[in-house]
Amino acid sequence: MPTKNALITGITGQDGAYLAKFLLEKGYAVYGTYRRLSTPNFWRLQYLNIFEQVVLIPADLVDAGSMVEAVKISEPDEIYHLAAQSFVGASFEQPIGTGEITGLGVTRILEAIRQINPAIKFYQASTSELYGNGHSSSLTENSPFQPSSPYAAAKLYGYWLTKMYRESYKFFACNGILFNHESPLRGLEFVTRKISNAVAKISLGLEKELHLGNLEAKRDWGYAPEYVESMWRMLKEKEPDDYVIATNEAHKVGEFVEKAFDSLGLDWQEYVEVDKRFFRPQDVNFLQGDYSKAKRKLAWRPRVKFDKLVERMVKEDLERWARWQKGERFPWDAPNYPNESNILTRTLKV
Ligand code: NAP
Ligand code: GDD
Repeated sequence: MPTKNALITGITGQDGAYLAKFLLEKGYAVYGTYRRLSTPNFWRLQYLNIFEQVVLIPADLVDAGSMVEAVKISEPDEIYHLAAQSFVGASFEQPIGTGEITGLGVTRILEAIRQINPAIKFYQASTSELYGNGHSSSLTENSPFQPSSPYAAAKLYGYWLTKMYRESYKFFACNGILFNHESPLRGLEFVTRKISNAVAKISLGLEKELHLGNLEAKRDWGYAPEYVESMWRMLKEKEPDDYVIATNEAHKVGEFVEKAFDSLGLDWQEYVEVDKRFFRPQDVNFLQGDYSKAKRKLAWRPRVKFDKLVERMVKEDLERWARWQKGERFPWDAPNYPNESNILTRTLKV
C-alpha cells in the first residue's frame, strides 16, 4: 500500500518523468498532470518503464478549474509543480503565453491548494535564470535576482508567490533554485541535448553539421536524476525553505561541444558553425551555483559532473541512433524532431 500521494505537474517533461520514477521507488502513489496535445507525448514515461504505474490527470496551467480538479482527484500530500513553458528562447517568441503558464500558473495551483487543503506541501521549480546577467562568482540563495528574459521574469513572479503564500498562509512551500540539469531525457531544443544528438548522428553519417549560437555562455550543468531527489528532500525538512541546487562548476557551451565531439574521436571545428539564428535578444553569460546550504541541511550533493555528463548523453544518443539504423523502433523523441533549419521565428530569422 502506498504511504503517500504525490501530484507532479509536468510529469511528461524531463524532471517530471525522473521524479515520478524516484517517488514510485519510495513507495508513493504518483499522480501527474498532462495537457491535451494532438499527438500523445508520454515517451519519457515509457522510456523509464513507468507509464503503467502513474495515474494521469488532464490539466492545463492556463485553466484554473482543471488544476483544482487535479488537486481534488489526487488528494496529494505533496505537490511538485514542475510544469512550465521552460525554454528561455521560446519565451522571447511567446512572452505573454510564458507569463500565463510559467508565472500565473503558479498562482493557480497555489490557490487550488489554499481552497482545498492548505496542509499540502508544495515544491516550486525555481531556477538559476532568476539571477540573470551581471554575475561573475558563484551564486547563493542570497544573491540578487536580475531576470534577463520573459521566462526568468515569469519564474521570478512564481518564486515570490511561493514565498508569499509561505509567509501569509503558513504554507509548507519551498523554492528549489535549480541550475541547469541535463540527461538523455532532455528536450532536443536545449543546447546540451541538441549537441549530443547531433554528435551521435554525425558520427553515424546521418548528419553533416551542427549550427549553434553563443558558444561563450557559461552554465553550471548537473545530472537531472540527482536534482529531482533534492526536491523530495526539501519537502522532508521540518521547515520550508529555499535552496540552490548546482554543481558549483561553470563550463562554456564551447567546452561542451568540444568534449562531446572529442568523446567520439571527432574534431568539432570540422562540423560546427556559429549561426546568428541561435543567438537570443539577451543571453545570460555566466551561471554557477553554490550548493553549500543544500549540502549542509539536505545532505545533498552532486555526483555526476561535467565530463561524465557529456559522455553519458553522447553515449545514449549514439546507442539510440545505432538501434534505429538497425530498424529497431522504441519510444524516443529525436526521429520526430524537425531540423531546426525548418524553424522560422523572430529570433531565428535568417
Ligand atoms: P520540460 O522537460 O520542458 O517539461 C515541462 C513540462 O511542463 C512538460 O511536462 C510540459 O508538458 C508541461 N507544460 C508546459 N506547458 C504546460 C501547460 N500550459 N499546462 C500544463 N503543463 C504544461 O522541463 P524540465 O527540464 O523537466 O523542467 C521542469 C521544471 O523545472 C520547469 O518548470 C523548468 O522551468 C524548471 N527548471 C528546469 C531546469 C533545467 O535545467 N531542466 C532548471 C531550473 C528550473 P508537455 O510535455 O505537454 O510539453
Ligand atoms: N538552446 C540553445 N540552442 N542554446 C544555445 C544554442 C543553441 O543552438 N547555442 C548556444 N546556446 C546557449 C544559449 O544561448 C544559452 O546561453 C546556453 O546555450 C544554454 O541554453 P539552453 O540549453 O537553452 O538552456 P538555458 O540555460 O537557457 O535554460 C535552461 O536552464 C535554466 C536554468 O538555468 C532551461 O532548462 C530553463 O528551463 C532553466 O530554468
